[in-house]
Amino acid sequence: MILRIIVFCCSIIFSSANNSKARCLTGYMTDVQNWVDQHGNLITSPAERQNSIDLSTNVDPVKMLHQHMGMLKSSHRYVKYLSLARCDLTRVPPIFLLEDMQRRQLSAMVEYMTFYGNKFLGMSAAGEHYTLSFNATGATIMNLGTSPQTQAENIWSSGFSAVNFTKLKELDLRACSIQVLGQNLFKGMSELRALYIGENEIFYIDSTAFAGLNKLVHLDFSRNQAFDENGNPKNLATESYYAFQHLNLISLDLSFTKLTQRNLGMLKSLGKSLRSLSLCETGLNNLHADIFLTTSLQILDVSRNNGILQGTKPLKGIEDSLIVLYAQEVGLNTMDIFQNFTKLAILQLANNEINNIEASAVRNLRHLKVLDLNKNRINSWFNRTYSLMPELSYLSLKDNNINLITEEMIEDLMYVDYLALSENSLICNCHSKDLYKMAAKNEMLYKEVFVHQPETGLHQNAYDTYNDIIRNRNKVELNECDEQCYTDIGISGTFRFVDYSNDTYICLPFGESKPVQIADVYSCGRASREKTYEQELKDGRLKLLALLTLPCVMIIVGMIYMFRRHIRYFYITMRNSAMLSLINKKDVVDDNTIFNYDVFVSYCNEDRGWVLDHLLPHMETECSISACLHERDFLVGLSILENIVSCMDRSRSIMLILSQRFLLSQWCQFEMHLAQHRLLETRREDLTLILLEDIPRRLRPNTLHYLMLTKTYIVWPKDEAERPIFWKRLKKTLIAQKTKPSENVSLA
Ligand SMILES: *[C@@H]1O[C@H](CO)[C@@H](O)[C@H](O)[C@H]1NC(C)=O
Ligand SMILES: *[C@@H]1O[C@H](CO)[C@@H](O)[C@H](O)[C@H]1NC(C)=O
Ligand SMILES: *[C@@H]1O[C@H](CO)[C@@H](O)[C@H](O)[C@H]1NC(C)=O
Ligand SMILES: *[C@@H]1O[C@H](CO)[C@@H](O)[C@H](O)[C@H]1NC(C)=O
Ligand SMILES: *[C@@H]1O[C@H](CO)[C@@H](O)[C@H](O)[C@H]1NC(C)=O
Ligand SMILES: *[C@@H]1O[C@H](CO)[C@@H](O)[C@H](O)[C@H]1NC(C)=O
Repeated sequence: MILRIIVFCCSIIFSSANNSKARCLTGYMTDVQNWVDQHGNLITSPAERQNSIDLSTNVDPVKMLHQHMGMLKSSHRYVKYLSLARCDLTRVPPIFLLEDMQRRQLSAMVEYMTFYGNKFLGMSAAGEHYTLSFNATGATIMNLGTSPQTQAENIWSSGFSAVNFTKLKELDLRACSIQVLGQNLFKGMSELRALYIGENEIFYIDSTAFAGLNKLVHLDFSRNQAFDENGNPKNLATESYYAFQHLNLISLDLSFTKLTQRNLGMLKSLGKSLRSLSLCETGLNNLHADIFLTTSLQILDVSRNNGILQGTKPLKGIEDSLIVLYAQEVGLNTMDIFQNFTKLAILQLANNEINNIEASAVRNLRHLKVLDLNKNRINSWFNRTYSLMPELSYLSLKDNNINLITEEMIEDLMYVDYLALSENSLICNCHSKDLYKMAAKNEMLYKEVFVHQPETGLHQNAYDTYNDIIRNRNKVELNECDEQCYTDIGISGTFRFVDYSNDTYICLPFGESKPVQIADVYSCGRASREKTYEQELKDGRLKLLALLTLPCVMIIVGMIYMFRRHIRYFYITMRNSAMLSLINKKDVVDDNTIFNYDVFVSYCNEDRGWVLDHLLPHMETECSISACLHERDFLVGLSILENIVSCMDRSRSIMLILSQRFLLSQWCQFEMHLAQHRLLETRREDLTLILLEDIPRRLRPNTLHYLMLTKTYIVWPKDEAERPIFWKRLKKTLIAQKTKPSENVSLA
């Protein structure tokens, strides 16, 4: 049981990262067209089928094509779609001058063509020869004598040369083992709008490779990765630094293509018309400051490039145009860089390290509809945050570090439409139940709300992704529901859970090690709270009773009853204490206990600098006081929680380094509760509070307020001249504690 709690507590900080590959924003370019699927199969409509020739997986496609064309007798039928996918071709066959019965050349008919999944050979390989007689069913002999340079004949693409494709709109060359994009490769394709050359091994792009593609708007260059003989990745090289310069692309997909900083030039020359760009998992780790200045990007994916958004204003220039941004797993720890993105509608920030969201960062996100913060480190919050975004409809906070649902949080979340809160190691409290009840009630009151795509002319997967989640979600169903389920909440809102299933909304109850369903927790109504309390007493939680009999706890009780508004703090404290009491049942400290350390120092990460630079040198060198710091003195192999408890138990006294940041950290708050609890349990009085800054009453949890009323606290002076006095006081306190362990020295 103890182990369970420890596991639970540790999951608060080490939320298990499930690195299952979340999708990139774009996928195989199949989001911009509908005639070929991910595996190269034609997916034309029945009406179009008579104009399709599908020769995929055919062993002799050239002969078959010839036969098919020979059967095109009606002028209403022509070859609009052509597939030679997965035919084991080693080069593009010279088929485009083939004519049908009405002397229409293939090159003047075909509009959509796929060669998906062939194995085109490089420059030097021999390849197969086309020596067929094209005279079987009346078609005229094709002219094989027009190939230009003899050198080019061996290149996989020689079949394209010297052909004018007057209608070709889309060309699919994915997964063809292409390594080099040579000179004037697509020269005859002046009508081409979309080119898919993903999933190849392209490592070199000639400066004229894209010449003549005057109408190209979609380029899929995703999933290209070449390796040398030793299996090391080859960098993409371009003859011209600005490889895409003369194209007027609207969308470019470079996802999963390994890029280096040297390839940034490609991105720099993308031009005004670019509206969609995917750099998902390219390995880039920074963007030049002004890389997007010339574009008006609306859709951008920079996911899984660690550190890519770390520079100063990495997205400069697109603040007023960006609508969809995916930035999963980029090591982001704040949302501050998004503060001016007023048009943003979808922001996908899963798998980052965001723990706190400043109001200033989100206040201007006036059009944000979807905010996905799955797998970050968000804690409970007390200030308005999400309600600052008026259009926020879908908010996912799944798998974060939220332990406590507070009233402020409920108020902040009320008006989103969909909310995900599972996998958060929630502690059961009545607010969590209220939230749950409201979600159930809202299921009955409100219709489904979908995220509408603005008219950008660009189809976007991101909207479908979230709408599908909304469409397929489970609805909360209350088990035993009477009138009371829906009344008596006293608060309302519109949200529903988007990640609900009967085993995801669970919480850890007071004094128990096994999570229960939030559905089974008591609500916050006054009557039910008393019921909870009675129930718990009846259940024999004498620990609570024992705690209640301690005089100092009585003071808190008194205070809390005086300030009823704050009753939940008491409630939380009690719960934490009870929970913690299960962790370590070691005896009360007596005079003979041997302490390894004089003082246990608890501080939050942000104050680490102060502890290491100021406190430690003074304490250890000048006062010969030994301190246990959680990072330095923890035993390898023990869980953090066990370490903290053991460190506290082996220390004569406890010192809390308090700052406003300390209070924002769930973990530090936890240590504070733990400290207070250990003090009560072991009847030690040796707690020193050091305030690094003033903490207004408003921000003090009641635990702290109480501690400040009863314990020694020393304020770190801003003025350097007063610091010697600070050290003197501290030394006096610590020495006093060291020599007379149970005496309380107040210097406040
Ligand atoms: C990660 O997620 C996938 C599916 O989303 C699931 O199948 C897998 O079990 C998860 N792994 C862990 C370690 O949670
Ligand atoms: C091919 O067919 C045409 C008529 O359709 C004929 O004139 C020509 O001689 C044939 N060529 C060969 C090589 O059989
Ligand atoms: C292709 O078209 C261009 C002009 O549109 C013309 O100059 C060229 O000769 C044509 N090539 C062939 C092989 O027909
Ligand atoms: C947002 O805009 C304000 C005012 O124009 C500017 O001072 C601030 O630096 C901008 N913030 C970011 C992150 O670009
Ligand atoms: C909460 O908001 C107040 C004013 O609105 C601000 O002074 C305070 O710093 C904020 N606290 C946090 C933790 O952000
Ligand atoms: C949850 O639902 C599954 C099937 O949907 C069911 O088998 C299971 O018993 C349910 N669990 C609870 C605790 O209701």
